[in-house]
Amino acid sequence: MTCSFRILYFERVSSTQDVAKKNLKENLVVVAEEMYAGRGRRGHKWHAPRGGLWMSAVVKPPEKMHLLTLAAGVAVVKALSELNISAGLKYPNDIFVNGKKAGGILTELYGELAVVGIGINLQNQIPDELRDIAISLPDIKRDALLGSILKNLCGEIKKSPAEIIREWKQHSITLGRWVRVSEVREVYEGIAMDLDEDGFLLVKTDAGIKRVVAGDVAFINPEKDYIL
Ligand code: BTN
Repeated sequence: MTCSFRILYFERVSSTQDVAKKNLKENLVVVAEEMYAGRGRRGHKWHAPRGGLWMSAVVKPPEKMHLLTLAAGVAVVKALSELNISAGLKYPNDIFVNGKKAGGILTELYGELAVVGIGINLQNQIPDELRDIAISLPDIKRDALLGSILKNLCGEIKKSPAEIIREWKQHSITLGRWVRVSEVREVYEGIAMDLDEDGFLLVKTDAGIKRVVAGDVAFINPEKDYIL
């Protein structure tokens, strides 16, 4: 089954998430040339000057909201692959290309509907302080990527939880790696082992297996990488 999206374009907005929330209707997509108050996960600021893909889509979420972030990640990786870019997924919401962050996903729930925000660095400038960790994809045309993401998103969000998790794992660059997890109350390190049946990351630490529900995950000690 295909989906049809209605796209609203803006020159400059605070955040496409805010505009989508104000106009909450299933299959509405908000795209902006630039955002002056773009936001990322866990209250992080998202730098969004002209040249990138900054979009928010209103969708009916799967029963388990967390799976929406994973499904959107898979949709973005598939869309990039259609445009000959090989990307991978860092838990839970990062799109990586050549070891650096090319984009991210922010999902927010408003009643019965969810807003999936997707930001991908394309022709936009990356601030100097982020050059070591972020990358842009200057050869990708924004509207081609937008179309491909929407097509893939439509397909991914209809899949079963098990299928979403299986596909996320297929595109993961997280599993098998040493990670440092920063949560509100604790920071711990261990090996990213697997996703559980709800799509949460399981990290094997000295104190046992931890389930990462809300936390930032950073890669550490590449020489200790472990192949699962
Ligand atoms: C992250 O990596 O923390 C998530 C970044 C999400 C950025 C996108 S850009 C479009 C949408 N509007 C926002 O303000 N944020 C998301």
